[in-house]
This record gives sequence, structure tokens and C-alpha cells, in this order.
Amino acid sequence: MTKKVLFLCGSPRRKKSASLSTARYLARFLDCDYEFVDVAKARLSTDPTEAEPAFLEIVAKMQAADAVVWTFGAWVLFVPVQMQYLLDKLFTQGYDFTGKIAAAVMTSARAHDDFILDRARFVSEQLGFGYIGDVSAEGNPFFGYADEEVAESSCRVLAGQINRALAAGYIPARHYPPVERKYLSPMYRGPGFAVDGSPAAKTGDKTILVVTGNRLSEDPANAGVAESIHRYSRNSVEVIELQDRQVGPCVGCYLCDFRVEGVCVIKDEYEAIKQRLHQVDGIVFVGNCVSGMVDCYLKAFLDRCWGIAHRPSLKGKYGFVVATGGGPLEADAAWYLRGVLNKTGVRCIAALTQSAADAPAFAATVRRTTEDLDRALDEKWHIADRFNTRAVAWTFRDLVATNGMILRADYKFHQEHKMFDYLSPGGVNALMRLLFKSEILKRRMMAVRGAQVAKGREKRLAAYLQCGGRLGEGKEI
Ligand SMILES: Cc1cc2nc3c(=O)[nH]c(=O)nc-3n(C[C@H](O)[C@H](O)[C@H](O)COP(=O)(O)O)c2cc1C
Repeated sequence: MTKKVLFLCGSPRRKKSASLSTARYLARFLDCDYEFVDVAKARLSTDPTEAEPAFLEIVAKMQAADAVVWTFGAWVLFVPVQMQYLLDKLFTQGYDFTGKIAAAVMTSARAHDDFILDRARFVSEQLGFGYIGDVSAEGNPFFGYADEEVAESSCRVLAGQINRALAAGYIPARHYPPVERKYLSPMYRGPGFAVDGSPAAKTGDKTILVVTGNRLSEDPANAGVAESIHRYSRNSVEVIELQDRQVGPCVGCYLCDFRVEGVCVIKDEYEAIKQRLHQVDGIVFVGNCVSGMVDCYLKAFLDRCWGIAHRPSLKGKYGFVVATGGGPLEADAAWYLRGVLNKTGVRCIAALTQSAADAPAFAATVRRTTEDLDRALDEKWHIADRFNTRAVAWTFRDLVATNGMILRADYKFHQEHKMFDYLSPGGVNALMRLLFKSEILKRRMMAVRGAQVAKGREKRLAAYLQCGGRLGEGKEI
């Protein structure tokens, strides 16, 4: 019987998806039949216990496949939340895919691509898959993958690895030891802890905003953290429980980048919360560990923050992050939250985890960190950026320098804040920006570029086939 490969596509960008077009290129080199499933279109619910027909249909396809290829654009250091809904359900409902292999095809702007693919490997292995490898390609919002030659050859390499593994029945050895399932499921919350020291006198004139995914009445650990900040800060404290707010998933239209105003087009509560983030002085993200990252409510919100995550418009503010309910997974989740908070420009003074400490030690640490946050706000702590923060800032500065005609909101921000090293970054780009002021000219130039890209791809494929390369024997189901 012929083997089957299932591409699970998590990008909500449908036909425009760069990762989908990259995976489609890869599929041409597979020797077995393959199918593409649009996970984002399935509109899975946020309830991890719900086994709705759309979910069961995806599971049945996964069970019938010999290999699964996670296909997605990097979305704020992980998969798009629409794909996380699937992972949350798989972990909560106890699915196991031992005996099958998994791979990943990801496009990104190359910010933390190694970390994100490592997470893809981690979740694959926790679901029982043997992880064969991955492709990291640079995505272009209009023309699929960007770094053409290397992206194409990476796809051919991975297709060859999948072909050989399926032909030989080879399952790669695991890299990560199994983690208790409860830590991967949204159903498990961290334990509460006592917060009963004397409250601080509210002498401060600042405001701290605590953003938590889960509703606090259902999350004792996050409730303890919020209560502790409330009690021990000298400043006023506000809490946003995202589960009770209307913040839908990002649809990847990029208008927050393309339009100078940088406003999200989805009409829900996100823009109001974003405004509040800009008004307050301190920001704390509290996330419950789920699917190897954070709960889907916080993740959906962070995806929506993409527009501010590479225009550090929250500079001058201070904050910290806390990861709860994930046992050994909290360290990665806290690292993730710190990375996102830093990207927005907020200076993150600490990344806390709950499980490794006993309850009194954790309670004392949250208290101390809250008191430090008050100090940081008063004294305007000057702390050097670490490598990750610098690297991400450079990545986006370069991206904006070379694509400023498209990424208009980002370009304007970087220019106004003197974030470029040169007066006129990217000479060709400067000229393009001028030309792109006309919509008609812009559309024409994009069409010409699109045709050039398509022709280039055909030419390269022909050259590859002429040099003895071959297409796969598989066909799309
Ligand atoms: C909400 C959002 C978050 C993103 N986060 C990241 C990121 O963390 N790292 C990165 O390198 N690129 C990031 N990107 C860029 C996308 O990964 C990139 O454009 C990718 O090609 C999109 O793939 P798709 O078209 O298949 O969705 C993000 C884009 C969006 C819209």
C-alpha cells in the first residue's frame, strides 16, 4: 500500500500562505501520495476537551497518514494560534502517534526560527512522532518563500529524507524525553499559594497592567500572581483576563505593517487593550504553560501584538513575565514571554517560573519582583539589552531597511526613532518607496515582480531536472 504524507497547514493566510507555497514545492519531490489540510480554516474551538467533527476529521487523517508535515508561518515565536488549538486538543484528549514520522516546513522573517522549529520538534515528539527534520525558509507576504535557491534545495533535502524514511520504515530517535501530559494540556493549572503579607501603601503614581490568558477564577496560580502584584506594589494595578475579552486570532493580513497607522483591522477589543498598554507604566505577562508554550488566550493576544512586537513602541516601560502550570516546561515558556515582551520595547526585569520552587519561595520571589518593578519604574533602571533582544531588533531593522516601501508602519517608526545606522538605508528601497507612493505603479511593479519570481522558479526547476534531479512519484490526494 502506498504511504501517505499529510501537510497540516496552520497559516490563516490560505492561498497567500508562504509556508503553504513552500510545502507545495516540497511535495513535488515526494514519492508517496500527499494531502494538504487547512487547519486554520477548520476553525477549531478554544475548548481543549471538545471533540468537534472538524477536529475528529483532522485526527482521522493524521491517524491514516504515515508522516505529518507541520506547515506554518512563524507567528510570534511559535505556531499560529489556530494551529495551537489543534495541539491543545491533541494533548488534552490523549492522542499518540507513535510509529509515524513528523517534519516541519516553516517560513518566517528569520527571527528565532531555530527556537520555533525546535518547539515543533518538541511537540511532535511529545505526541509520539519521530521527528525527521525541517525547512526554515524566509517568507515573502506576496510571493511565497523569499530566499529562493536555498529554500528550494532545503525542501528537496527534506523530501528525500521523508522518502527514504518511509521506504525503510525508519523512525528517528527522540531528542526530548517524554514530559507528563498534564503539563502540555490547558486543563492543568499551577497550584495557588498564600499571599498574606501586609499590603503596600499605595503611594506610587504609576500604573501596572497585568495581562493573563486564563480567567483568574479558574487559575489559582495566575490568581496568586495577580493578587501578589496587587498587594505588594505601591502603584495601582489593573488586570486583564483575556479569556473574558474579545481578542480573536490574527488573520495575517499584515495591514498593521503595511499601513502607516499600524492599526489592526479586526474589530474587537484588541486595539483598546493595545492603547492601554501604551498608557500604563509597567506590564506583566502571566501565562499558563500549554502545548509547550503558553495558553491559547495569551498566545492569540501576542499574535495580534505582531504590529508592536517589531516596532518597539512600548520603550521606556518596565515589566516582568511569569510562567505557571507547566512543570519542566515553564523555563521555555518564561523565556518565550520575556522575548515577546522585550520585542515590544518593554524592559523585562525578570522571567519567573513557579514549579521548581516551593510555594513560599515562589511567593517571596513574586513579591520581591513586584517591589523591584516599582523601583525600576521610579529609578528608570538602565539595563543593557541581551543578545536576543539586540538580535531581534537588528533583524527587524534590516527587514524594514530593505522592505520599507511595503512595511510602511515599521519604516516610519524606525525612522522617527532614529533606529537606522545610515541616513538613507537601502538605496534601491528608497527609490522604491518613492515609486510606491502611486498605487497603480505599485500594483504594476508587483505584477512584474510576481511574473519574474514565477519564471525564476520554473527555470531553476528545469535546470535541476536537467542535471539529473527528478520529481517525486507521489500525487496529491
Ligand atoms: C502575527 C505574526 C507573527 C509573526 N511572528 C514571527 C516571528 O516570531 N518570527 C519571524 O521570523 N517571523 C514572524 N512573522 C512573519 C511570518 O512568519 C512570515 O511572514 C511567514 O512567511 C508567514 O507565513 P504564512 O504566509 O504561511 O503565514 C510573523 C507574522 C505574523 C503575521
